[in-house]
Amino acid sequence: MWGIIATWVMAKDGIDKASKLLNDNSSCKEALLAAIKDVEDNPDFWSVGYGGLPNEDKEVECDAAYMNGDNLKVGCVGAIKDIANPIEVAEHLSHEDLNNFLTGDGAKKYAIEKGFMERDMLTQKAINAYEEKKKFSKPYRGHDTIGCIALDSNNSMCAGTSTSGLFMKRKGRIGDSPLIGSGYYADSLIGGAAATGLGEDIMKKCMSYEIVRLMSEGYSPQKACEKALLSYSTKLKGDCSLIAMNNKGEFGAATNIDDFSFVVATQNLKPTIYRVSRITDHSELYLPDEKWLSDLLAHI
Ligand code: GLY
Repeated sequence: MWGIIATWVMAKDGIDKASKLLNDNSSCKEALLAAIKDVEDNPDFWSVGYGGLPNEDKEVECDAAYMNGDNLKVGCVGAIKDIANPIEVAEHLSHEDLNNFLTGDGAKKYAIEKGFMERDMLTQKAINAYEEKKKFSKPYRGHDTIGCIALDSNNSMCAGTSTSGLFMKRKGRIGDSPLIGSGYYADSLIGGAAATGLGEDIMKKCMSYEIVRLMSEGYSPQKACEKALLSYSTKLKGDCSLIAMNNKGEFGAATNIDDFSFVVATQNLKPTIYRVSRITDHSELYLPDEKWLSDLLAHI
């Protein structure tokens, strides 16, 4: 069985590409990198990679991480600037024995040394949004991270994230996305999970590790996401949306916001967009109607 799941509708084209790769027996790593790079390269998405919204100093600082579920090795970059594909740098770092989490200038130096492509990540559209939004006293918004879990037909799993983080964040601020166990986690013997939302809250409860831990106790991905999110809601109030897939390709999601969506494909399911209802005691997964999809695409 193979499968792949990623946060938000923006992942659809990437999941289309990744599912073809998995169907042709590519590794979960190749599939996940293809899915996330597709989003990083698209300037129409405000919250990831090229065209991402800048920090308060008008710089696009990106966070990304990669976790190999076979050996639990991770690579992470925080506040990296002007490198086209932060997820590739993170994946490369996951092969190192030491220095797996690099930030700022150190992360950029490593990326350049290893031959990763440099790119000015700030687009005119993002500058315009910055100029507009800075007129407001509370411009903080926009942290729609791509988080992705992939399972290949050799039963290997991996997880990855990429984000330009909270819009108008302070220079040097790092959210949950590159933090192991918070923004992502994968263990090929169990499954993987990823989070999107307010990093400052998500990291307090190590949400992704908690979901994988619950799956190891026998909870389905859906129940594990719901249980983790309900435990969060007693103490934390920030936006939080969660996805998970286990090593059988079963998947689930939960959210505390109104408009969370994700994309999933498995050996038995063509790439499909789901919406998720805000959690009460559980979250329902349902297929979006045409109007919702066309309104969303028009907005992008
Ligand atoms: N979840 C992404 C961030 O808070 O930066």
